[in-house]
Amino acid sequence: MSRRKRFLSLHDNGPHIVPSLLLCDFGHLEREVRRLERAGAAALHLDVMDGQFVPNFTYGMPLVRAFRELTELPLDVHLMMARPERYLGQFYDAGADAITVHVEAVTEPARVIDDIGQLGAAAGIALNPATPMATVESCLDQCDMVLVMSVPAGFGGQSFDEIALEKIQWLKGRAANGPLIEVDGGINTRTVGRAAAAGAELLVAGSAIFHSADYIEALRDLERLASDGP
Ligand code: DX5
Ligand code: ZN
Repeated sequence: MSRRKRFLSLHDNGPHIVPSLLLCDFGHLEREVRRLERAGAAALHLDVMDGQFVPNFTYGMPLVRAFRELTELPLDVHLMMARPERYLGQFYDAGADAITVHVEAVTEPARVIDDIGQLGAAAGIALNPATPMATVESCLDQCDMVLVMSVPAGFGGQSFDEIALEKIQWLKGRAANGPLIEVDGGINTRTVGRAAAAGAELLVAGSAIFHSADYIEALRDLERLASDGP
């Protein structure tokens, strides 16, 4: 099965909580990955930040490759970087199953989406809370996933912006077989139910998991609340 197909199978049996490794213990990657696997994570969300598109800096291909070597879970790579089109092939080679670029960071989103699809990965387009849906409309039919940011890209631990709910609802209402809808930022026990009820299928959670002592319990609570609704 192609990486793209495998990733898109997340459309089934959702909603899914996808842990963001931004706040994990980087000194013990293997232990963190095993814990998340045991907790039943459906995929891992990897936040790549370049210190230019966003004021924060994280990591690049070598760490994506390290996660690839540690797990079979799909890797959901969120590129918060300027001109990501320069590095798509390298992120694919490092093991990304889905590659998401920010609409604010590219001049021709449809072309970049197409390039990601050509590589064989699922192609996502992300937009920040302040960015209107109109900016992604022209590439919606081409992309596999829309990543609705519910915090401004750059840092974990920020609070959920309700504007994301309107965007998710709009996407959900637009087409029956549309792109996967992912939401990222400020997902916790208070917000997860509403985001899932609005139509988000993949709900990225960083601090709600990594600031808790028991990952399994945290992930299960979020999953239960996502399925139960608000
Ligand atoms: C923010 C990142 C998110 C973030 C999520 O720029 O894209 O993935 O780490 O972390 P929380 O859940 O703490 O908002
Ligand atoms: Zn992210």
